[in-house]
Amino acid sequence: MPLLDPAAMAPDLRAKAEKIQSWQHSAATFIYDPSVALARIQLMRTALPPWIRIHYAMKANSFPSLVEVISPKVDGFDVASESELETARRVSATASISASGPGKSDAFIECLSRISNSIVNVDSVTELHRLRKVAENHGRQQKVALRVSPPYVQLDIGDEFENDGQRFGLFSDDLHHAITYARASSFLELVGFHFHLLSNNLDAARHASYIRWCLSWSRSTAQRAGIDLRYVNVGGGIGVGFGIESEFDLERLGNELKGLETPDFEVVIEPGRYLTADCGWYISDVVDLKVREHESFVVLAGGIHHFQLPTSWDIVHNAVVLPREGWSETYPRPTVENQLVTIIGKLCTTEDTLLRDVAVTRVRVGDAIAFPYAGAYGWEFAMQNFLGHPHAKRALLRSNDIGDD
Ligand SMILES: Cc1ncc(COP(=O)(O)O)c(C=O)c1O
Repeated sequence: MPLLDPAAMAPDLRAKAEKIQSWQHSAATFIYDPSVALARIQLMRTALPPWIRIHYAMKANSFPSLVEVISPKVDGFDVASESELETARRVSATASISASGPGKSDAFIECLSRISNSIVNVDSVTELHRLRKVAENHGRQQKVALRVSPPYVQLDIGDEFENDGQRFGLFSDDLHHAITYARASSFLELVGFHFHLLSNNLDAARHASYIRWCLSWSRSTAQRAGIDLRYVNVGGGIGVGFGIESEFDLERLGNELKGLETPDFEVVIEPGRYLTADCGWYISDVVDLKVREHESFVVLAGGIHHFQLPTSWDIVHNAVVLPREGWSETYPRPTVENQLVTIIGKLCTTEDTLLRDVAVTRVRVGDAIAFPYAGAYGWEFAMQNFLGHPHAKRALLRSNDIGDD
């Protein structure tokens, strides 16, 4: 596979990233173009029926400056920790909050219980007990939705899928007990159900069918259990093509959902990757080139302690060489031309491989390599402290706020 053309990275984005790297004496930067994320939100607003509310799943990218730009355009946030909750509250005191994830701490539950419009997507029966106790201590009711973990989902397009993420949410055996418990407690207000059963899904027809399943399962379960259904959260999971596969057909998803009768309960979708993946680039200096007979290694100043996705998921992140002129050293500039190279980081593990066997026309020590589609699960997902190297900087294209908070 040949590397991408440098023109793939917009010149203003590149100029800002280069400036940050030199100002901050940083060797690696994540740079985000908020206009790309805003355009994604707008696409969703236009395509989807008006009865779907959009919560941004902050786990994809929690850089406060980016979250602040996104905030007025979404209806709320999905948060997974106290820190994400704090960011959400800092950028908007009124945005709706839904909280998901296993093992929520008492401290997190405490913080959530102080927010009147928070809905906790409950992961287990033990968590329900904790929520009740905290709500009782505060003398108020906590809104809860039960996160559902069915063994499989029967789609109405003649297909079914197994639920690989079975560890999340309430297993079928616990669900009945959770419903009974939540309904019996005057400190818990059971408003509905939460699902998150697809990940990086590129098939719009499948996504539409999955959402129909969530709505219909919720209606019939609520009816059977006598629950006043007011909320169904269908999770995230809309995929991006990473420049290699065709993009998700949002218009198709929207058209299929627009054909449904407007539900008489709130429906929330909580995308992460779809909103922020393609707004971000990871850019790192080349600090060494190591050449032997059959292969050459391009060594970055960064690596998977900044940008772990290329080793964690089965996704190939292509990259761009950003040439930098000027060489002030007294020794000859190490250069590789017209070869296949493997791009590696500076960690002492062979896992630290960002791209394997790619064709370069030229790469030199002192150039930089930039990876697109690094805006979601990039900085957030990496094991930043391994070996104690500096963290990557983060910045927005259109503002001056630079930080590695
Ligand atoms: C509960 C929940 N909601 C939403 C998301 C966002 O998913 P995605 O980034 O695939 O849209 C995740 C991701 O793990 C999640 O766990």
